[in-house]
Amino acid sequence: MRVREILLTGATGFLGAELLARLLTGPGDRRVTCVLRGSSDEAIAARGVDALSAALRRAPYASELRRITWTRGDLERAGLGMNPDQLSSLALRIGEIFHCAASTKFDLSLGEAERINVHGTREVLALARRAAASGEFRRLHHVSTAFAAGRRRGRVLAGELPPDRARHFRNTYERTKARAERLLRAQREVPVTIYRPSIIVGDSRDGVTRSWNVLYYPMRLIASRRLPIAPSGGSALLDCVPIDFVADAILALAGRDDTTGATLHLVAGRDAATVPWMIQEIAAGLARSGDPLPPVIPRTVGPARWWIVQQGYRLFGGARARAVATRFAQYAPYTRIDARFDDARERQLLAISRVRLTPPATFVPRIIDYALAANFGRATPRPEPAGDAAWSAAG
Ligand SMILES: NC(=O)c1ccc[n+]([C@@H]2O[C@H](COP(=O)([O-])OP(=O)(O)OC[C@H]3O[C@@H](n4cnc5c(N)ncnc54)[C@H](OP(=O)(O)O)[C@@H]3O)[C@@H](O)[C@H]2O)c1
Repeated sequence: MRVREILLTGATGFLGAELLARLLTGPGDRRVTCVLRGSSDEAIAARGVDALSAALRRAPYASELRRITWTRGDLERAGLGMNPDQLSSLALRIGEIFHCAASTKFDLSLGEAERINVHGTREVLALARRAAASGEFRRLHHVSTAFAAGRRRGRVLAGELPPDRARHFRNTYERTKARAERLLRAQREVPVTIYRPSIIVGDSRDGVTRSWNVLYYPMRLIASRRLPIAPSGGSALLDCVPIDFVADAILALAGRDDTTGATLHLVAGRDAATVPWMIQEIAAGLARSGDPLPPVIPRTVGPARWWIVQQGYRLFGGARARAVATRFAQYAPYTRIDARFDDARERQLLAISRVRLTPPATFVPRIIDYALAANFGRATPRPEPAGDAAWSAAG
């Protein structure tokens, strides 16, 4: 019997491309159908190959490309925007789905975030149902986030979901990722595994990343001496994990039958970094980079004082300072986290597959060095340090 194909969503994204690279270079020679949105088949294939090349760090071999089908589809549209024949043929071909596509923006309206993160998941589930109805569908692997647990404090177990009310979440991203989990858990026809990474950063071996949001924005402000004061509160836990760990862990756990039906943390857990430690590491990275000026180490203030500082920038700062204040406000809630994500079971399972998290003390300096050398993904060289330590510019 022919082994069914894998369907992957989000293959142009940070995590999806890493999964695709591993599916092609790992054991077996399964075919992968990548659903991507775009104006033409040529356009999606070009974007897919670019992302795959970045993840492989070389051009893909012809033998690898032959195993990929680039298929046009938009997760926000009914039936993925495909015609009924296409959908039927897909449902008969696929035996497993890795669903990575999402919007990771923190500032979307609830409706916008819902369209991709919830409706998109509903469409993927509908396809999985049709595939499962034909009897040979193994599992839907859904990538969620540890922050689907919302504003929980203390020890957080991977299955925890707060009630669906805005006050339990920091933003619409968390809330809609939680809604997507809820809809997957409410059904029984499709076997599902949910993976909950914390903040994903560059590769543990050399810091390389294609994604410059979340942690990298505050890092860039500090590196350019434009954040003289930073918020920090509670235990200020900053749980981040390298992209190679997340991709390796998902594939290792996906290969085990006993993870069916489970929700799994992919986190630093007891080894999580903290905001003050990260600030010191950025200063150390600047020194290593040969920066001639001493770093401006932000003074950390609690939430109440931070609110006053922000109002000051909003009311009395220039246009760019206001823009920075507005953008930074999205990340500020992540500087006062008291949640310690529990990963005891995941560590045990991953140890069997020899997938281990590199300690943050080892990988964080690497991601900082890479970010500084790459000027945070910007084409231009890193700007000259600001003369004063004002939160002045650089949106
Ligand atoms: N990055 C993190 O720190 C982090 C942490 C925890 C969990 N996660 C989760 O990990 C998963 C992957 O995140 P990521 O960082 O790889 O995100 P990403 O780099 O922003 O990639 C998102 C992917 O989703 C695709 N997509 C978005 N809307 C789509 C639509 N309407 N139809 C089809 N495809 C669509 C994008 O395609 P286009 O190229 O066309 O935009 C892209 O391939 C997400 O589920 C996210 O919630 C991420």
